[in-house]
Amino acid sequence: MKRALVLVFILLLILPSVEAYSVPERGVIYQVMVDRFYDGNQSNNEPFYDPMHTNYRLYWGGDLEGLIEKLDYIQSLGVSMIWLSPLNDNINRMAGGSAPYHGYWTHDYKRIEEHFGDWKTFKRLVEDAEKRGICIIVDYVPNHSNPATDGELGSLYDNGTLVTNYYYDAKNATVNPYTGSKELIYHHNGDIGDWFGFQLKYANLFGLADFNQLNPWVDSYLKDGARLFVEAGACGFRIDAVKHMDLGWLESFYLDLYSSSERPLFIYGEYYSLSPQKTDDMYYFYLYSNVSPLLGIPIRNDIVRTFAYGGSMKDLARELEDYYSLFVYPNKQVNFLDSHDLVRFLNENHRLDRYHMALALTMTLPGIPVIYYGDESYLVSKDGKGDPYNRPMMVFNNTTEAARIIRTLAELRKTNDALAFGDFRTLYADYNVWAFERAFGAHRLLVVMNKGPDKNLTLSLDWSDGRYVDALHGAEMVVENGRASVTLPRNSIYIFHVEGEQKEPLIGSLTPYTAQPGQRVLVAGAGFGNDGEVFIGGEKAKVLSWEDDQILVEVPEVETEDSWISVYVETSYGKSNTVKLHYYSSGDVPSLIVVNGSNLTGSLWIKGSLPELAEPRPLIKSSTGYYFTVVPLPNGTIFSVELYRGLPWDELEPLNITLYGRTNSTVLLSTELTEIPTERLTTTSPEMPGKSPDWIPYVALVTIGALLLLLAFRKGRL
Ligand code: NOJ
Ligand code: CA
Repeated sequence: MKRALVLVFILLLILPSVEAYSVPERGVIYQVMVDRFYDGNQSNNEPFYDPMHTNYRLYWGGDLEGLIEKLDYIQSLGVSMIWLSPLNDNINRMAGGSAPYHGYWTHDYKRIEEHFGDWKTFKRLVEDAEKRGICIIVDYVPNHSNPATDGELGSLYDNGTLVTNYYYDAKNATVNPYTGSKELIYHHNGDIGDWFGFQLKYANLFGLADFNQLNPWVDSYLKDGARLFVEAGACGFRIDAVKHMDLGWLESFYLDLYSSSERPLFIYGEYYSLSPQKTDDMYYFYLYSNVSPLLGIPIRNDIVRTFAYGGSMKDLARELEDYYSLFVYPNKQVNFLDSHDLVRFLNENHRLDRYHMALALTMTLPGIPVIYYGDESYLVSKDGKGDPYNRPMMVFNNTTEAARIIRTLAELRKTNDALAFGDFRTLYADYNVWAFERAFGAHRLLVVMNKGPDKNLTLSLDWSDGRYVDALHGAEMVVENGRASVTLPRNSIYIFHVEGEQKEPLIGSLTPYTAQPGQRVLVAGAGFGNDGEVFIGGEKAKVLSWEDDQILVEVPEVETEDSWISVYVETSYGKSNTVKLHYYSSGDVPSLIVVNGSNLTGSLWIKGSLPELAEPRPLIKSSTGYYFTVVPLPNGTIFSVELYRGLPWDELEPLNITLYGRTNSTVLLSTELTEIPTERLTTTSPEMPGKSPDWIPYVALVTIGALLLLLAFRKGRL
């Protein structure tokens, strides 16, 4: 008996652990501003503390211990993820009349803010939340540290050791000849004035000291800081201000985190833009950036406008359909109604019937819903509307109609795959009424709503004959011969659903859908059975765990020049649908790609011979006569690119110019190197030139070219 037990123990140790991870699409996020939630430890409230909660710009006492105390409450809403406002150690001074109670003014990315707790408490929170089936997502701020000209003047610490501040850094900063950016640890290019191009990414956002992420120290510091949260058990990140960083650096940041984590992380970015205009660079970002999901800021405005004020449901349906069509994975986008940056719905219009409709809609659209703390308890401030009045102290009440809607729909997401992974199709829309259907395999969802007078709605619906009961209120819908009839009272929203049996394998999502070889990816869906095989880019992937609704795999090395590669599952019931994985080479590092712009004009793009370059990337024009961008590339690889001209929302015109380069931290592309073969040389060794005599003339040519350019630049000829 004893020997058998020992054997079982040894087997447990050596067998791969079969862990079921939570699939983001099957969950709901609860967003908390830590300082405004619950005070669990009064000894950490000072300084800059207002016990009366009247000055919205001071600390009000909320902390990690408070959150731990309130986990049962959060669990009672049925949510599966908590997104916490930034936890890193913030400045210890006021700036612009405000304390950093919000957490967005970091000065140490290796420590936790003392008003909120410490690493030990964070780990306790993670563990206690996991026990309730909830995981923790952390807001992380890699674009900037803290105000450059106020407070602590951009001071930066590395686990307690002072590294620099904005003024000290400026003294040693130099101008990068290619980008024209004055920089060291920080960028020193003033505040953002033009909200596009160079300034958008290389200048200070509202006076916040802007990081130079391409500085190797900054690159590792920001990646190490985020990894600390992964090591402490976080299951994902909300990344602040992605609009203001080079996409190429972000890609390498995400890949670094994904690869360093055993569990598949869920990372989403904040790209602040209120209107879904196709004529700004947001359109490019949404269309080609499918690197991480984004917060649905543009559509939140459409929803609030339609339900809090007025407007046509038909227009809303079209706006939402346009928006979702921009994404490869619409179901991974993050939907919300209220947030810490926008006016709460009930501060726009206090009508609860309309609020409940908007809330239920937000939770049934494609994408993962966010419930902002207090949405369930109708929390609003009487003192004002936007920031900081959208951050009042939490009022706990989970017995409201809103809480019931949240709980009901959070539960439905766990069992109805159409809600988690389904497509999105309008069946009927007029000024007041909208009906859309979502389908995934044998699961279906029908959402019908009416904000006008009572309406008897009849629809074509491909569901079996029968009576269906709405999940929210128990209203009934009859389907007969492909026609559905339902009576919709004024200001109602009904949700009908079907959960059929799925036998054939069907993939709903990949988490993450961006990966490099060796990285773990969670394939979620239905009908996977007990075993089978997963193919990624034509290669058989190593399977780490297999369940009927999720498979954990390791991404194999794939020989490709495409940015998206195919993924499918095979079981004894057959082959699944094919979905796309955004593929990157192993060992990518952020690389500054430069094009000499002396004979070039207009908005330029490159597209090239590596997976990372397979989709068009826009170049930024520098003040020094070059065009540039940042791309994560495998070091030491020869590649070619084609130049294009055009605006993001138009067709790109090929310029029939081919340029060549060999990846490094900075690569000046050249037209002269036509003898370079276009096939990809795979190496990760930066010493490659020395090892391969064939390339010595080429490397020498690039170096001499770069030196001549630099000399010419210094003498002011360029
Ligand atoms: C966006 C955040 O949501 C906002 O609250 C913050 O102040 C800015 N980014 C700057 O970090
Ligand atoms: Ca920036």
